[in-house]
Amino acid sequence: MPGLLLGDVFPDFEAESTTGDIKLHEFLGDSWGILFSHPRDFTPVCTTELGRAARLSSEFSKRGVKLIALSVDCLEDHHGWTKDILAYNCEDSTSSLPFPIIADCKRELAVALGMLDPDEKDKDGMPLTARCVFIIGPDKRLKLSLLYPATTGRNFDEILRVVDSLQLTAGKRVATPADWKPGECVMVPPSMSEEEAASLFPTGVYTKELPSGKKYLRYTP
Ligand code: BEZ
Repeated sequence: MPGLLLGDVFPDFEAESTTGDIKLHEFLGDSWGILFSHPRDFTPVCTTELGRAARLSSEFSKRGVKLIALSVDCLEDHHGWTKDILAYNCEDSTSSLPFPIIADCKRELAVALGMLDPDEKDKDGMPLTARCVFIIGPDKRLKLSLLYPATTGRNFDEILRVVDSLQLTAGKRVATPADWKPGECVMVPPSMSEEEAASLFPTGVYTKELPSGKKYLRYTP
């Protein structure tokens, strides 16, 4: 499904994975979900990414987020690669990754979800998957998407940070500023009147004076 937009219901696909056959919506249940794609098994950047995601898995589950990876290779390769990822993390090769890896050797899902990177090809000239991140809410709608080329590995601390922002702003009428981290002040959305802000945020609203005289830079704890 090319052109998946924020707010769209994420396609409820079925796929083979390292933990068995998966129906995405059933797999997610009432949780948040992150589907993240990889160019290929047995590649260096992808190995560091999956290793990092595995090391952060308790942080994701603390936030009620289920992870699911996808790479355009078959299950047999995924199982072999899993041992390498565990070794990269200095873990016992008989343990397992804390999330499934979807097998997409025919690239059907990668095409349907608009994940292919036309600039990165395998040795047979077939396009590889870009590094997509799709964050899906408990309502199964797309809340955020990131798209990196194969040559740039993702920052998983940033992915955790955006989950914190998405979960906060899903429940409260606030917005998070640049580089925001949990515990820091948040911003009052421009659409909210001064009266409403004063009643919604009893701990106070601080408005920064600006040359324009417009009172839109409003913070609240
Ligand atoms: C990697 O994961 O290391 C990678 C994959 C495809 C192109 C470039 C790097």
